Amino acid sequence: MDVVRTADAAAAAAAAADLLVSAARTGLQITLAGGSTPRAAYEAAARAEHDWSAAGFWWGDERCVPPDDERSNYRLAADALLDRVHTTPPSIHRIRGELGAEAAARAYEEELRPARLDLVLLGIGPDGHTASLFPKAPTLDETERLAVPAEPGLAPLVERVTLTRPALASAAHVVFLAVGEDKAEAVERAFAIPPDRRTPASLVRSREGRTTAILDRAAAARL
Ligand code: 6PG
Repeated sequence: MDVVRTADAAAAAAAAADLLVSAARTGLQITLAGGSTPRAAYEAAARAEHDWSAAGFWWGDERCVPPDDERSNYRLAADALLDRVHTTPPSIHRIRGELGAEAAARAYEEELRPARLDLVLLGIGPDGHTASLFPKAPTLDETERLAVPAEPGLAPLVERVTLTRPALASAAHVVFLAVGEDKAEAVERAFAIPPDRRTPASLVRSREGRTTAILDRAAAARL
């Protein structure tokens, strides 16, 4: 587990953007995160590279809303990255949240099953959740399925679809990006003490590859 400590949120976004850009240049399958933290990283990545046509895009989780809804994780990535760069349309594998959680999870599972995930970017919530794997949720016990419905643990209170622990762990490189002092306690629980179902981020590590946490000074304060 590598921890990358940066001076501030902008530097953390730049470090995450560097990883995204080199993954795109290598033609890797990239899994994007939702929430608010990755926006700056996506924007920096879009500024740094225009040709993303070799990469594939997946999502770690999605809210069950249409793709143009402002709560959509796809829309965040589209606004901040995908609509600003050159991509090849079939390479964008969005979770179709508008189908409802169960149908969207089944459809995503089918699309994901034959694929490989190379770089998975994840956020961490102040409660320690990651993707839409919430503290002590039954989704944490899933061992077979790659994508499952998830009850919202916090706002926005809409149903979600999340990749499961086995799906996330299959990635060659799992990267957590967290900034700000409200993440410091969750970061400590995720990376500095023994893993626990109360902190889902502590249970997600690449099985055979690397796991990296990119943190600003505030988020890393308790490590
Ligand atoms: C989502 C996420 C979620 C997010 C964390 C951190 O759909 O909400 O993918 O896991 O990464 O909640 O969110 P912030 O970056 O907004 O703090």
